[in-house]
Amino acid sequence: MWQLLPPAAWLLLVSADIRAADLSKAVVHLDPEWDRVLKNDRVTLKCQGTYPVEDNSTKWWHNGTLTSKQTSSYLIADAQVEDSGEYNCQTGLSAPSDPVKLEVHEGWLLLQTPQRVVNAGEPIQLKCHSWKKIPVVKVQYFHNGRGKKYFHHNSDFRIPKAQLEHSGSYFCRGIIGTKNESSESVQITVVQDLESLQTVSSFFPPWHQIAFCLVMGLLFAVDTGLYFSVQRNLRSSEEWRDGKVTWSKGP
Ligand SMILES: *[C@@H]1O[C@H](CO)[C@@H](O)[C@H](O)[C@H]1NC(C)=O
Ligand SMILES: *[C@@H]1O[C@H](CO)[C@@H](O)[C@H](O)[C@H]1NC(C)=O
Ligand SMILES: *[C@@H]1O[C@H](CO)[C@@H](O)[C@H](O)[C@H]1NC(C)=O
Repeated sequence: MWQLLPPAAWLLLVSADIRAADLSKAVVHLDPEWDRVLKNDRVTLKCQGTYPVEDNSTKWWHNGTLTSKQTSSYLIADAQVEDSGEYNCQTGLSAPSDPVKLEVHEGWLLLQTPQRVVNAGEPIQLKCHSWKKIPVVKVQYFHNGRGKKYFHHNSDFRIPKAQLEHSGSYFCRGIIGTKNESSESVQITVVQDLESLQTVSSFFPPWHQIAFCLVMGLLFAVDTGLYFSVQRNLRSSEEWRDGKVTWSKGP
């Protein structure tokens, strides 16, 4: 029996390891979705993860420091510049999330976009957001310094299918009261689908699959080893029994 213990213990360790790797990461979502906001905006960070039955609390880190917030939603009712930075969350049955960056800007106008890296063929959406949503008129969107779109009343600018030449720097400007204001510019990069896939897979090799194959290979080796050692033991005990039988038949 002692011969069976090390592989059995080893199997338990491996399965515990697999369970730890399976613990999925929590995810932080922003509501509304913008990762750049203006001072005094309202932002809710939502933690999506698995909770154990007995514990509904959530951990939140801001710039790597654990905060006192324990609810699944982290409300920033009146954003200040110090609220900028990286946020992570974790629930009882999830691994800590990847960080989500929030930028709180000061100014009259801010260009907001759901993604700064866009796959070719997907839409680009731009919003000319004003401080405290004060009305803006005669809004113009610019791409690499050239006017692309004009709205008398502020509206989002949407490019339905991004092409590589839509990469570049964007800003918006408009009239608030009597003032002619401009946003800072934002860099948007359009990538080919294939290219982004290759980048992603070279950064994130399929470790799970590699680990899975290694474990299966090892299990097979251990299994085969056990099979032969059990067979050898059986054979030697048969020989011993034969010997005993021969011996008892002897006289
Ligand atoms: C957990 O659930 C209890 C009961 O439903 C509730 O009173 C409490 O506020 C919750 N706590 C958190 C951190 O959500
Ligand atoms: C968090 O980090 C950001 C950017 O590094 C900084 O602007 C912000 O003031 C920091 N806030 C706190 C509370 O540490
Ligand atoms: C705002 O100012 C720019 C120059 O800074 C000018 O070209 C533009 O016409 C002005 N916009 C309006 C609507 O007056």
